[in-house]
Amino acid sequence: MLKGKTVLLGVSGGIAAYKTCTLVSHLKDRGANVYVIMTKEAVKLVSPHIFRSLSGNPTIIDLFDYRHITLPHIALSEMADILVIAPCTANVIGKIAQGIADDALTTVVLASTAKKLVAPAMNCNMWRNTVVQENVEKLKEMRFEFVGPEIGKLACGDIDIGRMSEPNSIIEKINEILSPTQDLRGLSILITAGGTREQIDPVRFISNRSSGKMGYTLAEAAVSRGAEVTLISGPCSLTPPEGVKTIMVESAQEMHDEVAVHREGKKAIIMAAAVADYRPSITFWQKLKKDSNNFTLELSKTSDILAELGRNKNGTFLVGFAAESNDHISNAKEKLEKKNLDIIVANDISAFEQDDSEATIINKSGKIETLTKFSKKEIAHRINVKAAERPLKLSTE
Ligand SMILES: Cc1cc2nc3c(=O)[nH]c(=O)nc-3n(C[C@H](O)[C@H](O)[C@H](O)COP(=O)(O)O)c2cc1C
Repeated sequence: MLKGKTVLLGVSGGIAAYKTCTLVSHLKDRGANVYVIMTKEAVKLVSPHIFRSLSGNPTIIDLFDYRHITLPHIALSEMADILVIAPCTANVIGKIAQGIADDALTTVVLASTAKKLVAPAMNCNMWRNTVVQENVEKLKEMRFEFVGPEIGKLACGDIDIGRMSEPNSIIEKINEILSPTQDLRGLSILITAGGTREQIDPVRFISNRSSGKMGYTLAEAAVSRGAEVTLISGPCSLTPPEGVKTIMVESAQEMHDEVAVHREGKKAIIMAAAVADYRPSITFWQKLKKDSNNFTLELSKTSDILAELGRNKNGTFLVGFAAESNDHISNAKEKLEKKNLDIIVANDISAFEQDDSEATIINKSGKIETLTKFSKKEIAHRINVKAAERPLKLSTE
């Protein structure tokens, strides 16, 4: 979710500034570009060199140090996807509320149109001070988001409100702000992806061209909308999306068994995997020799996972895929009915291994929606929206 996003991270002069080092390193682990802007007081608490090393970017303290960039505050504010201030002192909250821009951080805040998140940290009496509370309200009116402060042990030794939220809570909030919507929050979804491998001998197998991209993109989209996602994947070269419980399998039988284990309690199951229809009747345990001109391989049908799920749905919203080379719509409609699906996504076999795809989504009542020249990501979001509509209705039934 944070991959490729630019986070401007303001650090002001609160004792919790040391925790922001962990925050920077977690953001970097998640693939974000991080630029740290420190106030002069923050520099007295944590060295800017630490932030420079952790972020891989210069730490900004004084805008006038950047003579090679004409307007550094504008350049910085324009590249941000989000501006986070952690810790945010009572002083910085007050300055932003009054429109004061007397250092690098407050100037960038004023210039930036990006989404903004504030993680206040201060002594409990400072936090409760009427003027601080009025400033907080003002920031909320200005559409600043807040995370914390939390109740816990403060620098003064008291257990009270004022602690900065932990780095992981701040990251969760950033994800929430940057995600398009959280309409799948509280729903658990099972998604399958990739092709399976049916072993002939220790080195040979039967498989197909599925890259896993559609299933992985679906999982990424679902988790970004707040779902709890379990992904069961055949062998592929993709990195499992962050925040998704991923189970790797090889064969159709393993896929079948893992689906059986994990289907329980799922509001939606999206079967995007290209599961083999047939497997060799016998798997040779030693590598086959090339000693005859002809070789006949007997194949047996694998278990039909989708049909099994359709026979025993228990209210689960069931989504199937149909990769077709011809008669896409009629074949997909037949599959939808035969396997008792809620929707089916028909696409052309040319979509294998591609980032973009054309897809036709057909629902039970025969409604057809064709998505032409859509990225797999957009298709994934569209399918998730449909999955969201039904389970949400179910939960209020
Ligand atoms: C050791 C130390 C810790 C401080 N911790 C906090 C704090 O957690 N929150 C806060 O609002 N002010 C804190 N202050 C006071 C601020 O540093 C002070 O108000 C300063 O002017 C804030 O400057 P800045 O907002 O530009 O960073 C602390 C001061 C010191 C000396």
